[in-house]
Amino acid sequence: MNSIYLDYMATTPVDPIVLKTMLPYFSEHFGNPSALNAYGKTARDAVEFARAQVAKAMMTEPSGITFTSGATEANNLAIFGLAAALPPHKRHIVTLATEHKSVLAPYERLAQQGYEVSFIKPQADGLVDLKTFAAALRPNTGLVSVMWVNNEIGVIQPIAELCDIVRQHEAAVHRLPSDDKAQVGDIERIYLHVDAVQGLGKVDMNLATLDVDAVVISGHKIYGPKGVGALWLRDGLASKVQPMCMGGGQEQGLRAGTLAVPFIVGMGKACELVILRQQDDWQHAMDLRHAFLAGLAKLGDWDLNGSLEYRVPHNLNISFTGIDSETLRLAVPSLSLSAGSACQVGKMQASHVLKALDLPIQRCQGAVRISFGRHTTLVDIATATDMFITAVNRLRVGAGA
Ligand SMILES: Cc1ncc(COP(=O)(O)O)c(C=O)c1O
Repeated sequence: MNSIYLDYMATTPVDPIVLKTMLPYFSEHFGNPSALNAYGKTARDAVEFARAQVAKAMMTEPSGITFTSGATEANNLAIFGLAAALPPHKRHIVTLATEHKSVLAPYERLAQQGYEVSFIKPQADGLVDLKTFAAALRPNTGLVSVMWVNNEIGVIQPIAELCDIVRQHEAAVHRLPSDDKAQVGDIERIYLHVDAVQGLGKVDMNLATLDVDAVVISGHKIYGPKGVGALWLRDGLASKVQPMCMGGGQEQGLRAGTLAVPFIVGMGKACELVILRQQDDWQHAMDLRHAFLAGLAKLGDWDLNGSLEYRVPHNLNISFTGIDSETLRLAVPSLSLSAGSACQVGKMQASHVLKALDLPIQRCQGAVRISFGRHTTLVDIATATDMFITAVNRLRVGAGA
């Protein structure tokens, strides 16, 4: 395709090795994994192999993994499923105002259903302030959802610190020494749910040491197929989570429906590969980001949105003063990137993430997201920065700036 792809946070191409691994499961090993015949066994073995690959990528046990149709479904299942398991005196739930819509929309629905909901605004750099976070927790807090890496501005939230704050709060509510976790009955535990969709394959993930309860990932952000995701639940939690989809009892009854075997097989392989390549991918993204920022240094009047220090190098989110993002996107048609704002019913809507950072509205409306990946080259970056500079200068002259 005659366009430079700079939208890896929207989706990634399927790795050829992943595709090759998937293909036999469409028409050769096509059995239903629930069937007790030989075809079913082959499919079932492949699903269990993939489950182990997914678990290994997150350094956890395969028994905690539930396959879903993607991260949207997995986030919905985690939030609605855990919220329904909360006793009436624990129905205060907390999340960040910068979460993905597949987290925010369930929280909004739960607010309509009578749950007390707190949406925490991060600081101007996109990172949640630890004191603000601690202050948002109440004696009746039952569920907290925090994303690991933001999909629009790439900032990495301090998950381990946030986790410690939640557990200290839990111990304080029960007047227990913070190391006496064994006495905190599960019913009183604050469930901590993490959307790690943009984190897997970028930041180190070790669920054996992180005291969280639910983690969500997606296949198509890690060079795997679209339409498959996974929810990891801490040991013993699956029986408490209320399923959204009921039927044949697949996936320990948590997510009924015939398993999408080729996609699950692909997701398993993608998980294996993305961890093997994590360091190289990170370094490559660092080189690309460095080149991009060096290229843009020739142009004045632009702002980087989100912390540069606590950020995955695969993402830049930039506002060019005086230019709205949709105009800029249309002025560089051979670059495939995301505008940070979307045109809705003829009106520009700034991104909820940037608005939550209390940035000036023009800056929110001018933001474009550029995200790099494994196949982006330094030549792509040089071409892209030249195109940006030409387009921005032309648009500014046109606007009489
Ligand atoms: C942070 C985050 N969470 C959830 C999702 C939803 O993932 P899926 O496309 O698998 O439903 C995305 C996808 O854009 C995302 O970036």
